[in-house]
Amino acid sequence: MIFRAFSVLVLPVALLAASAADADGAALYAESCAGCHGETGQGNGELRAPALAALDAGYLIRQVGHFRSGVRQVNPDNDMAVAMVELLPDVSEADTAEIASYLASLPLPVLEDDNDPPGFRSRGLYSGCISCHGARAQGIEALNAPRLARQYGWYLAEQLDAFRVGRRGAHPEDDPGRQMKAMADAIGSEADIAALVSYIATLDP
Ligand code: HEC
Ligand code: HEC
Repeated sequence: MIFRAFSVLVLPVALLAASAADADGAALYAESCAGCHGETGQGNGELRAPALAALDAGYLIRQVGHFRSGVRQVNPDNDMAVAMVELLPDVSEADTAEIASYLASLPLPVLEDDNDPPGFRSRGLYSGCISCHGARAQGIEALNAPRLARQYGWYLAEQLDAFRVGRRGAHPEDDPGRQMKAMADAIGSEADIAALVSYIATLDP
């Protein structure tokens, strides 16, 4: 009887706490991030800001931490990315966690643009990615590998380039990034990157 009364009391409190955190996450996101990443986390091609909706919370927190500490560098030609890095010291780790759990709870983003249709080699190239990112490019959280499907092709191509030139995944403290850098370095050419990206665009996570 006591147990029952307890659980009846505790459950609504726990639910309230969870939705309050999401509401805070939503407000914090709208205030600090939506201007570039879009109201529903769908990204913005003109600002070269990727879609963030429905990415894994752990992945988002790690990336923001890496931008903040400089472990992950942005392209200095990308003004908006530089502006984001300047803004991040004002966003506390607790706020970042709330924003990340809010973003992770959103539905998959609907992207603004399409990619070129894939060439016939692209599926074969993607077979080298399946073990970590999954056959539908849905991402595998246990391997730290994010979802790639429903992300802009231009963004995936820019990130593959960032791994290859060492802006990303070169830092000794970035184990997941170093794993991915080895994979990106093994991609043969720019044409193969384009083929991979157009194939990923056809996948439904
Ligand atoms: C001034 C524009 C701007 C603002 C504001 C901004 N971002 Fe970004 N963000 C970008 C750009 C541009 C990139 C791409 C960086 C790159 O190319 O390496 C990016 C990349 C990211 C990524 C990497 C995603 C991935 O899959 O690699 C995360 C995570 C992120 N932003 C989170 C946030 C959060 C959280 C906020 C709010 C606290 C925020 N951003 C505010 C412009 C912005
Ligand atoms: C050994 C596992 C592994 C394999 C195989 C692998 N990846 Fe990754 N990939 C990762 C990890 C881990 C990350 C996250 C890195 C980080 O935290 O910065 C990642 C990140 C990425 C990103 C950045 C996504 C974003 O939102 O910023 C892209 C793009 C990517 N991988 C593409 C590929 C492609 C294309 C292939 C096949 C050619 C591939 N990966 C093969 C582990 C792997």
